[in-house]
Amino acid sequence: MNELAERAPSTPAPTCASGPSSLRAGGRSAPLSGHLRQRIEREFRSRWEDEWGGSPITQSRPAGPDAVRLDGNDYLGVSGHPRIVQAQIDALSRSQSTVVQSGVFQLQGTPSNRLEQAFADYVGHEGAVLCQSGYTANLGLLQVIADRDTPVYLDSLAHMSLWEGVRAANAPAHAFRHNDPGHLQRMIARHGSGLVVVDSVYSTTGAMCRLQEIVEVVEASGSMILVDESHSLGTHGPQGRGVCVELGLSDRVHFITASLAKAFAGRAGIFTVPHEMRFYLMSNSFPNIFSSCLLPQEVAGLAATLEVVQRSDAARDRLRANTARLRGTLASLGFPIHQGSEQIIALESGTESNTVVLRNALEQRGVFGAVFCAPATSRNRAMVRLTLSAALTEAELRHVEAVARDIAPLVQPWNWPIARRNRGSGELSA
Ligand SMILES: Cc1ncc(COP(=O)(O)O)c(C=O)c1O
Repeated sequence: MNELAERAPSTPAPTCASGPSSLRAGGRSAPLSGHLRQRIEREFRSRWEDEWGGSPITQSRPAGPDAVRLDGNDYLGVSGHPRIVQAQIDALSRSQSTVVQSGVFQLQGTPSNRLEQAFADYVGHEGAVLCQSGYTANLGLLQVIADRDTPVYLDSLAHMSLWEGVRAANAPAHAFRHNDPGHLQRMIARHGSGLVVVDSVYSTTGAMCRLQEIVEVVEASGSMILVDESHSLGTHGPQGRGVCVELGLSDRVHFITASLAKAFAGRAGIFTVPHEMRFYLMSNSFPNIFSSCLLPQEVAGLAATLEVVQRSDAARDRLRANTARLRGTLASLGFPIHQGSEQIIALESGTESNTVVLRNALEQRGVFGAVFCAPATSRNRAMVRLTLSAALTEAELRHVEAVARDIAPLVQPWNWPIARRNRGSGELSA
């Protein structure tokens, strides 16, 4: 039994289980069980102390007003758009009679139902269902469309909410090699037709899905496919309608899901659903039944956002230009960012301690990305993820480029494991 387990429960030690003292002002918590404290010690202590240096890995300091923020997902810079704000204010001032209830009670003709149809039309599908988040959209849909007799084939980099949906469905999950249609085909040949699950743009690497080829494998095997368009809805395709529309694949893709907390900068998610199974789905999808629906101001804000996003061709062009520019600069400085091509740029430093060094180097110079590590990535593939926006100014872009130039000799990205693997496999740099 270790030191912590022996300690009287009323005198918890200030360790990784209790967090920094700055977080413990005010109230008191009931003591945790010895079992739980031991588990935290076993699983977390060395990570917290040795790799993270005894503080949260996600940020070393608050981002000041002059910081360049590359840690958000408002890709088109729509937050605070006057039309969106006005729509929210109008809805709030009208909403005295709001009934706060589950999504299943939202019947035809309500603003949320009209918004669902607008999103369905936007992506070229029959119908859609609004959810509280992209996470619950994936969970609630998968829980219904898969079951223990449905093998589900997920790209190994598919978002965690998709894996959790498969778990909720009790379905057998089979990971296929990232973006490898040949491997998918062999897995389906072994385990039988089922449901294939991919992201259109991968959230940890910014890689485009090889969707055309994957859809062909799906069709040849008599399977179905779900595409998570969280990082392409609003940014890709005509009027931002997404990758499925862009590639002319909408009517060959069975289900599209998306977080509306990226280019739509809201707090919601959506999935499409064929008319024939809408009510079956709404009678079985737990997040839609057992959790409350969006509030009127959220629905109104998203309806206005959809109109703004559709008209944002100039912002989409700027986002693409910013992406090409920063990817070009980073690659020329030796950052191994060849895994992706889109507005998400992974600086995959590998170990968590390397990532802390990289994070500090960036943040000390006023550039804030998002630290991703296990469980968001596999162990030893930790990274600082940079997400670009159409709203970045010329001065901000120049600053990021200057910082990248400055830190390259310090963090030596050409020595990161991913760079070595890339050289080993002879892949080309982007
Ligand atoms: C691909 C993908 N799907 C789903 C989600 C979940 O979205 P939300 O933040 O709206 O729950 C995310 C967000 O991290 C994502 O990147």
